[in-house]
Amino acid sequence: MDEALWKGHLSSAAVVRFQEPLARRTTLRVGGPADVWVEPADGTDLSAVLRLCAEHGWPWLVLGRGSNLLVRDGGVRGVVISLGQPGFAQWRVEAPELHCGAGVRLKTVAVEARRNGVAGLEFLEGIPGSVGGALRMNAGAMGAWMFQVVRQIRYMDPAGDIHEQPAAEIATSYRQCPLLRSHIALGAVLSGQLENPEAVAERMLNYSRKRWESQPPQPSAGCIFKNPSAIPAGRLIQELGLKGAAIGAAMVSGVHGNFIVNTGQASASEVLELIALVKARALSERGIQLETEVEIIGEGASCV
Ligand code: EPU
Repeated sequence: MDEALWKGHLSSAAVVRFQEPLARRTTLRVGGPADVWVEPADGTDLSAVLRLCAEHGWPWLVLGRGSNLLVRDGGVRGVVISLGQPGFAQWRVEAPELHCGAGVRLKTVAVEARRNGVAGLEFLEGIPGSVGGALRMNAGAMGAWMFQVVRQIRYMDPAGDIHEQPAAEIATSYRQCPLLRSHIALGAVLSGQLENPEAVAERMLNYSRKRWESQPPQPSAGCIFKNPSAIPAGRLIQELGLKGAAIGAAMVSGVHGNFIVNTGQASASEVLELIALVKARALSERGIQLETEVEIIGEGASCV
């Protein structure tokens, strides 16, 4: 994986780095390095990256804003692709629709929706992710989720070809969009309803207050577990008396039981051990099999 090989296939604006630490690229701030970190400048670069990976048999994955991710301490073998360059972060408002690249921050989507009086996208305001990550995860908050507001998506297949498809044709479920596990979201048309901007702003403010009251400010990966059907994971963990439980610098938040926070220099293995402990207690004491919502990648610790 030498530099010349990469440079020869990508535009001069592309960024390629080796042994790139991933901890600082995730909101939980743990994890080892990526063998190769690539920031393609545009779709042409991205398809060249995918072709190179296919030719050489290198595994690849796309990292969004790293807000729902736990990277193991040994880091990631293969190629980590970031769609952080401006070529993927363009947006255009045609109220009540917003055309957004995968790299656009959800915060930006919310600000534009508010400014243009587009209702229905308020729940995106506090999710610390990008449009691409939210599509891949079918991210949700405040009882709403991404694919409820998506009319169309644009994505690249592993061969580097681009497709557009109405969202109604794409299978999704709670926190999942299986298509985007193997394909890369490039953008989406988000659709709301026209309403007075003050009413939209007020709902966003209420959501933001609710979140600040109920979620911890320290570094975390958001909710660690999916909500089981029987009981919200946060309430279950509280009932198990596990709020404040800690392994090293990884601690179950005292504010919300479904958040593990990094109180200092936590390692991924400490977070993984704490996840295992919570799962074991939920199973032994309540017969509930908790499933992680956060995506766990990389090497160096045992699978949870
Ligand atoms: N609860 C407790 N104790 C706690 C935490 C929660 O009793 O420590 C109770 C709450 O009082 C409430 C219920 O559990 O009755 C649900 O809690 P909350 O309203 O905080 O919502 P949640 O189901 O825990 C979901 C999403 C969050 C999203 C919030 C706000 C999941 C797994 N989580 O949390 O998403 O921000 O709703 O809408 O679906 C994420 O995906 O990373 C995430 C944080």
